[in-house]
Amino acid sequence: MAKAIAMAPDSWIPGGEPDPLIRERHGHVGRPVSRIDGPLKVSGKAPFAAEFPMEGMVYAALAYSTIAKGRLSSLDTADAEAAPGVVLVMTFRNAPRMQPPPLFLSGAKAAGGDKLPVMQDDRIHWNGQPIALVLAETQEQADHAKSLIRVGYEVEHADIAFAEARDRGTDTAEFMGQPLHDEIGDAEKALQDAAFKIDATYTTPRHNHNPIELHGLTVAWQGDTLRMHDAQQLVAHTAWSMAQVFGLDEKQVVVTSPFVGGGFGSKSMWQHHILAAAGAKLAGRPVRIVLSREGVFRLVGGRSPTEQRVALGADQEGKLTALIHTGVTVKTPHNAMPEPFILPTRSAYAAENVLLDVQKVELDMLGNTFMRAPGEAVGTFALECAMDELAEKLGMDPIELRVRNEPEKDPISGLPFSSRHIVEAYRAGAERFGWSRRNPKPRSVSDGEWLIGMGCATGTYPYYRMPGGAARITLTREGKAIVDIAVHEMGMGTSTVQTQVTADRLGLPMDAITFNYGDSTLPGVIMAGGSQQTAAIGASVIAAHNALIEELLRIAGNDSPLAGLKAKDVGSRNGGLCKLDEPERHETYQSLLARAQRDKVTVEAQPPQPLETMHWSMHSHSAMFCEVKVNKVTGEPRVTRFLGSFDCGRILNPKTATSQFRGGIIMGLGLALMEDTQFDERKGRVMNPSLAEYHVPVHMDVPEIDVIWTDIPDPHAPMGAHGIGEIGITGTGAAVANAIYNATGKRVRDLPITLDKLL
Ligand code: MOS
Repeated sequence: MAKAIAMAPDSWIPGGEPDPLIRERHGHVGRPVSRIDGPLKVSGKAPFAAEFPMEGMVYAALAYSTIAKGRLSSLDTADAEAAPGVVLVMTFRNAPRMQPPPLFLSGAKAAGGDKLPVMQDDRIHWNGQPIALVLAETQEQADHAKSLIRVGYEVEHADIAFAEARDRGTDTAEFMGQPLHDEIGDAEKALQDAAFKIDATYTTPRHNHNPIELHGLTVAWQGDTLRMHDAQQLVAHTAWSMAQVFGLDEKQVVVTSPFVGGGFGSKSMWQHHILAAAGAKLAGRPVRIVLSREGVFRLVGGRSPTEQRVALGADQEGKLTALIHTGVTVKTPHNAMPEPFILPTRSAYAAENVLLDVQKVELDMLGNTFMRAPGEAVGTFALECAMDELAEKLGMDPIELRVRNEPEKDPISGLPFSSRHIVEAYRAGAERFGWSRRNPKPRSVSDGEWLIGMGCATGTYPYYRMPGGAARITLTREGKAIVDIAVHEMGMGTSTVQTQVTADRLGLPMDAITFNYGDSTLPGVIMAGGSQQTAAIGASVIAAHNALIEELLRIAGNDSPLAGLKAKDVGSRNGGLCKLDEPERHETYQSLLARAQRDKVTVEAQPPQPLETMHWSMHSHSAMFCEVKVNKVTGEPRVTRFLGSFDCGRILNPKTATSQFRGGIIMGLGLALMEDTQFDERKGRVMNPSLAEYHVPVHMDVPEIDVIWTDIPDPHAPMGAHGIGEIGITGTGAAVANAIYNATGKRVRDLPITLDKLL
């Protein structure tokens, strides 16, 4: 049996004592355990949402509006209804009456990507809105029948052009109920007076979500229960939200999602969930709906475009006197997601005068949404390119400029940092990457027709831990433990890492742990989002473990070596409990349960409220290093080397963490060089809704990516860990852009950096 760690029952209190787990370095946490779901996936045995067969199941296809705003003047479905295999054509005329979906962030369990009513009237709100659902015996029959639907529109004026809307006027954007606006001193004045300054505009395009697994679900009404096999980042939220739409009790909706083929913020609740459930109700048969790749572009929101100004003023020593980061982004009237690009800037640098502001315009388009590091991914592009530009003006190494402006406490909130070792991350990264070999003079290194350059940038992403995370632990007389919690495995290693965490907490081997997740009937309301799922589950497991110790001591009886002990003095070790400072006072779980004549003990507990972020400014950090070559003849940019040096608290599993970091960086390479939704500002239509025309990195585009980390635990986070799901994409765009500048002398401030911009 592997060595286990003794755990104090009150080991981690937000805002209080550090977790003793972070003082010890052995056991399962910290080991590079391979993913326990890996064999199922590579052998094709892991069932995804659209792979559950159901008796009598029919297949769905959606027809989408081709105008941005107006109403349906005619909708002829006769030919579609008469087509072979068709079971049902559903439009606003025959769809059941349903409530609009509760909008994500509008309540604790709200999951809807937007709050528009779904197929309840003839109104069109965006180009791509579903206007009919066809159900047929086969997918091909459904797709064919859909093509026979004839539609007429009464077109109304739509606001779809970003620049026009901006020129008419903007409003201050809000994110999670707070205005995106901060001010310290008089930044414009300080900028005017600064000895060195830069003032530049950076633009980023729309992005669409493209996880490998298409959005889909298999859904059935079983008696009074709505059963959904889904691909979800929010199983509990979606069950509650679907219940609101259909006027059901929350318990009447069961959402399961054991495996998800990527989410990145897109796998929340969209119209296809509601339409498939409504169609299943009307047809009286189970429905499988899988959006086509085009369908994902039409009805799953993406990232909004931004236009950002970054202006920096500095003195002779490179100390920032003015830091201005402002700009405009886009949302719709029916969702709640302006791209909050100033978030990373709030805690980035010590500047005497600061002005941060996000303005928004509202357009008639698909509700945009969260996409990996919303705010930070594109905000760090602008901020960190600007820092590079300022470093050049000062004639200073860009790492040195950042180190000189490292804040001692959070510049906006005034809170101390819980754990910030970004300078260490830079030092280690620079050493390993060979930063000292960089020639600071642009366009000075080449190899044949290739120009070569190096760049760096800082990445950052906040630590969150949302409330609502109850967990249940069942301990059996055989010494096995079962954890039940409604969380998600999108391929990042949730089940593996949490099995490690539970094994360490309970003093059991990993194969004694069963980790059940991905099911809305399990305890807890935890989303796989905001890079906070791991911390949230860990806190819940700690709370449930504490409750388990209490319960075991209660039933231990006077003959137990643990008799009379207080829970706070007891921990788990070697398959049982022991007194923390007297480990030989030990009893195995088997012995304890046998004497109490119990087959099992079950406890359920909630962790303390997430107060740690009220006491400390908490973030994941990175120092990103990029080497590129750019072809002098064709302008083709190629990333040849990349290093991410991370500071994210304790790394729970180096193997799954490495993959998370690399995945984020690869998505960042796409952001830097490729991803670009072509949005027709006359029609409001996405013109490149396929992976043939919307480019993401393939193997040829991805070099060797080196990943290192500080592994310094945060004493104020459960398990000492910060989130790592989103940090990898942040800073990457700027590191690439800064390397391209160093290679070519061309400063491209407009993403993506395609070859035409380098000629
Ligand atoms: Mo993430 S954009 O919070 O899934």
